[in-house]
Amino acid sequence: MDGNGRWAKNRLMPRFVGHERGLNAVKKTVKGAMELGVDALTLFAFSTENWKRPQEEVNKLMSLFMLALQREVKKLHENNVRLRIVGDTSAFSYEIQQKIRSAEELTQENTGLALNIAANYGGRHDIVNAVKTWAKSNPELAIDDLNEDAISQNVALEDLPLPDLLIRTGGEQRISNFLLWQMAYAEFYFTDELWPDFDKASLQKAIESFQNRERRFGKTSEQVQNRC
Ligand code: IPE
Ligand code: MG
Repeated sequence: MDGNGRWAKNRLMPRFVGHERGLNAVKKTVKGAMELGVDALTLFAFSTENWKRPQEEVNKLMSLFMLALQREVKKLHENNVRLRIVGDTSAFSYEIQQKIRSAEELTQENTGLALNIAANYGGRHDIVNAVKTWAKSNPELAIDDLNEDAISQNVALEDLPLPDLLIRTGGEQRISNFLLWQMAYAEFYFTDELWPDFDKASLQKAIESFQNRERRFGKTSEQVQNRC
């Protein structure tokens, strides 16, 4: 989700207004994803690098995160959404951590949209952490036993199908340390639209672009079309 600051700046408003409108876009997009039958949606809300922003902005983002947890979880639960936060949540305040825990517990049996919020998340850290988790839980194994499956089973969202589509708003064309391992075969979609303007129609456009692509997973076009 990129472009909140610019959205506000374009309107001569402070950056936090852009973040507030960004939260609104989250609500519209989550609702849109449910209506469009999306199975899983992961939103990159706060990266491990975002702590470097001015303290005032970090505080504002934290209070919005808290507000969203307070106000939206009940509705998500009623809509059968399973909410999870991925990333190192230990850096957040005690109150936020409590809210995260109770929201995850409340919604863990839900079978509708899997909504994941990446918060204090970094893709490289996720991979290193996966290797450590694997090593600690398999002390009898040697380094040569480490393989792709072992990492896949220990990175974030390991129980979900791999992401099909990465959408980045705000005109930037980078991955910015998001789900690096999980995105190996994802289709990338970039749009100049700023995040606060994103909604169901924007999501639908991205999905339509995805549907027109041929995913070959290393094979030739002929192989994929003949399904051999
Ligand atoms: C995305 O919008 C929100 C977060 C990273 C938390 P930005 O804040 O990056 O907006 P721009 O890039 O300055 O417009
Ligand atoms: Mg940005």
